[in-house]
Amino acid sequence: MTKKTVKDVNVKEKKVLVRCDFNVPLKEGAVADDTRIRATLPTIEYLMKHRAGVVLCSHLGRPKAKPDAKLSLRPVAKRLTELLKVGVGMLDDCIGDEVESAVTALKPGEVLLLENTRFHEGEKSNDPDFAAKLAKGFDLFVNDAFGTAHRAHASTEGVAHHLPGSAGFLMAREVEALTHLRDNPAKPVAALFGGVKISDKIGTIEAFINKSEVLLVGGGMANMFLKVKGLEIGSSFIEKEGLDTAEKIMKKAEDKLILPEDVVIAPQIRENAEHKTVPVNEISSGWKIVDIGPVSVDLFINTLGKMKTVIWNGPLGVFETVPFDRGTKAIARGLAGLDAEVYIGGGDSGAAVHQAEVAHKMTHVSTGGGAFLEFLEGKPLPCLTVLQDK
Ligand code: 3PG
Repeated sequence: MTKKTVKDVNVKEKKVLVRCDFNVPLKEGAVADDTRIRATLPTIEYLMKHRAGVVLCSHLGRPKAKPDAKLSLRPVAKRLTELLKVGVGMLDDCIGDEVESAVTALKPGEVLLLENTRFHEGEKSNDPDFAAKLAKGFDLFVNDAFGTAHRAHASTEGVAHHLPGSAGFLMAREVEALTHLRDNPAKPVAALFGGVKISDKIGTIEAFINKSEVLLVGGGMANMFLKVKGLEIGSSFIEKEGLDTAEKIMKKAEDKLILPEDVVIAPQIRENAEHKTVPVNEISSGWKIVDIGPVSVDLFINTLGKMKTVIWNGPLGVFETVPFDRGTKAIARGLAGLDAEVYIGGGDSGAAVHQAEVAHKMTHVSTGGGAFLEFLEGKPLPCLTVLQDK
């Protein structure tokens, strides 16, 4: 990495503002998946051990630039306290008098968490005044929020114009792994894309058409391809603008493209709804595609088994609705058995490999969704650019 990491700066007795990506799923007021919190523990623990005063900040969800109790970071403070085994103080705001006094009083080795930065208008607009207020009282800035690195917001980019910025360990690990994947992957390469919208991923798909031997598409995104091929897809989801995009990709990828051969269909999407598995040319009218079938899982895994590098982004079915998570989890288990470098990105694909207990078998499981895709597309990440060079 060409950027300074937290190891390249003297943090002893410094007040350090750390941007984390604590945008985690919540359920009934508690953290439902703490993967992103755990991923940033090495940076927090390093700073505590090296006698820095540590103040963490993050966004959570997409509040309307004002406080919203449902999107408070309090459950994250509770989880952090359990994981770090020290009390993590929680403040009611991320700027202002209360924050300034708490930062002044903070002792080396102590940790505080600020309230959701997106409760302020200035966060998303990257307002320099808001960024200056966030930076007040600190000596250093550390960015460990890879998942948010594609957003030029005040707490991710703006603040680094007021404080010397370096990368945390998670940020550094992500950048190193994904730089290797983007610039120098072992060949042959295959890319597997799922999820609902092609429009979110088109840049990355195009980048990987050139680099890949095969391009596999499943999940809601495959609906558009099946429709362009002239197949009946019942009442399956269609992204209108996606049809043209699918057609373009089909022309460009030509013989590289592999689509599902069988799918699970259901009349409606809800837990344990009636469903059946059919070949793609036998989808009943009025039914929706909700997952890939076992023939497709075998086809995908056998194809990927011939590769040296595999990238996977996006679920292959309606992953959040049981039992339509089966295809995605079967793919996660299949990838774990491959003799290839396997890179996973995106919330649902990451959750699938964790739930299937195979995350440790992957080369890299990114904490990023949008950031993962933009980095691989070759776009510069503004939050990285602004950090100090080595
Ligand atoms: C993510 O979950 O991808 C990041 O935390 C960014 O969140 P956002 O899409 O709301 O900016």
